[in-house]
Amino acid sequence: MGWLGAFLVSNLSRLLCNTSIMNKINAAITAVGGYLPEDVITNADLEKLVDTNDEWIMTRVGIKERRVLRDKDKGASYLAIRAAQDLFDRHGIDPTSIDGLILATNTADYHFPSTASIVAHELGCGDIFTFDMQAACPSFIYALEVGANFIRSGRYTKILVVATEKMTAATDYQDRATCPLFGDGAGCVLLEATEEELGVMDAVLHSNGIGKDHLIMKAGGSACPATHETVDNRWHYVYQEGQVVFKHAVVDMCNSCVEVMERNNLTHENITWVIPHQANLRIIDAVARRMGVPYEKVMVNIERYGNTSSATIPICLWEWEHKLKKGDVLVMTSFGAGFTWGAVYVKWAYDGSTVR
Ligand code: UT7
Repeated sequence: MGWLGAFLVSNLSRLLCNTSIMNKINAAITAVGGYLPEDVITNADLEKLVDTNDEWIMTRVGIKERRVLRDKDKGASYLAIRAAQDLFDRHGIDPTSIDGLILATNTADYHFPSTASIVAHELGCGDIFTFDMQAACPSFIYALEVGANFIRSGRYTKILVVATEKMTAATDYQDRATCPLFGDGAGCVLLEATEEELGVMDAVLHSNGIGKDHLIMKAGGSACPATHETVDNRWHYVYQEGQVVFKHAVVDMCNSCVEVMERNNLTHENITWVIPHQANLRIIDAVARRMGVPYEKVMVNIERYGNTSSATIPICLWEWEHKLKKGDVLVMTSFGAGFTWGAVYVKWAYDGSTVR
């Protein structure tokens, strides 16, 4: 073969390798897992700690109880490991078959090393790539889109996306404005490459930075390292100006859902499930109304688990897994500190009723 032949062969193979002319690779969710610690904090328990009551918490937020990981020596990694083990066991997944692990959290075990590296090691995943993602409560939907892009690149075929939070470690049980809100838990999904029109179909992700002072852990980072003063001032806990955050959450979650619906010709009729971040039942109601989706199509478990930050959405997927069918149209939406928010459109890839 002369130089012309070699030139043609080389360019043809480059063309064939170009994913744009091969079948499109999608990132399908092929398994879910979850874990919630057994211990419960009820509204009656909180009434003994701060000036609050069940009626206020139920009418303003919609939470009856939340889970707590009481072991002082266990962090968010413990919850993540239990959730991933649940996924591996029920779906028959070999931990060594995973290419990478992305861990969404706002309550990492440590500043470093990453919680993802601890979790992958404990699970026996081998020397895969791992990293933590922090985008406040929407961290899971951010991690989902990032994981999906690793798959779409054609370089990886199996990515585990885990969201885990030990929110009770960041909660001030002397502050009645925030202590009823949060709970602990973890959820995870496995992303796998497919050529079917299934999986993470679209995502709208936003942040604007205007929320910094309204929802923040004031100390412990490089801008305000821990001192006796920061501890005395209780700056290592969640600080939230609820009303401001509430208003932005409603507007931004609603708008991002409408954005993803319009971009993909989704209507209240062809959406099978809405999975909203579980921060406040009144926000969830507003999102469902704006989307025009009846309440039966909205996953809601805030009453039992409260706000587990980035873990709320995968915990819902885990709880509803048995009802999910191949081809179901899901819209997930979340909002949190920053402000940061977004919505993701997923076409479900398997029949959950067949999973044990
Ligand atoms: O997940 C990240 C994103 N976060 C969110 O999306 C949360 C958004 N915000 C909210 O969900 C709500 O703002 C809260 C649930 C946090 C608070 O509800 P609210 O209806 O905005 O209450 P508020 O802060 O305006 O407080 C109303 C009243 C106040 O009393 P006054 O000033 O009217 O006398 C508070 O002091 O309720 C009082 N209050 C309480 N009363 C009994 C605040 N916390 C409590 C409490 N029990 N736990």
